[in-house]
Amino acid sequence: MNLPNSPASERNKEPILEVLKTYTPLGEVLEVGHGTGQHAVYFSEYLQTLWYPADIEQNNWMMAERIKIAASDLIQPPLTFEVGLKPIGEQINRNFDSIFTANTFHIMAERHVFEFCDNLNHLLKPNGKFFLYGPFKFQGQFTSESNEMFDRQLKNNQMEMGIRDFEAIENCLKKIGVVFLNRHDLPANNQLLVFQNES
Ligand SMILES: C[S@@+](CC[C@H](N)C(=O)[O-])C[C@H]1O[C@@H](n2cnc3c(N)ncnc32)[C@H](O)[C@@H]1O
Repeated sequence: MNLPNSPASERNKEPILEVLKTYTPLGEVLEVGHGTGQHAVYFSEYLQTLWYPADIEQNNWMMAERIKIAASDLIQPPLTFEVGLKPIGEQINRNFDSIFTANTFHIMAERHVFEFCDNLNHLLKPNGKFFLYGPFKFQGQFTSESNEMFDRQLKNNQMEMGIRDFEAIENCLKKIGVVFLNRHDLPANNQLLVFQNES
């Protein structure tokens, strides 16, 4: 089985882990957009926490294969979850102590980012934390020229992709009682943004 490997995940997993460690215990974690599954294997093992990976159906096989290889009983079988396909509550009908997602918001269409944020409090327990990793704009500005170029490439590739505005995400989440806690600046002009469900 030729399992795809994401070099970016290999590079960013350690800096992300270092931040996640400072918020432990994370409890039961839902990961949205597990992709190749590298993060799920690494974080669940190092944090010794139950991990619920979710992604669009076409990607679930990568997670299933990685679980077999890792022989981990901390990672649960992958959930099929696609924002925009069906109402979020019909796809995952329970809540978690923490939600983690990496490099998904610039891939999902912006309307799906907002749909996800609008419904986040149904997936996240009271006081639960939302960890959002990726590149973002702050006050309308890219954090680097390379991110600006990346944004152009994304849009050339698919009109609906693009680097999102932090403030728009923050406002959307604030309306449902999920408040911004911290911004962690990580390598390669990415941030790990942390929010908490105070609803
Ligand atoms: C760039 S990959 C990131 C994968 C992984 N999190 C990582 O950091 O390597 C983007 C992920 O977002 C997922 N994704 C895109 N649109 C989605 C949607 N509407 N709902 C759920 N996941 C979505 C993709 O299937 C893919 O796994």
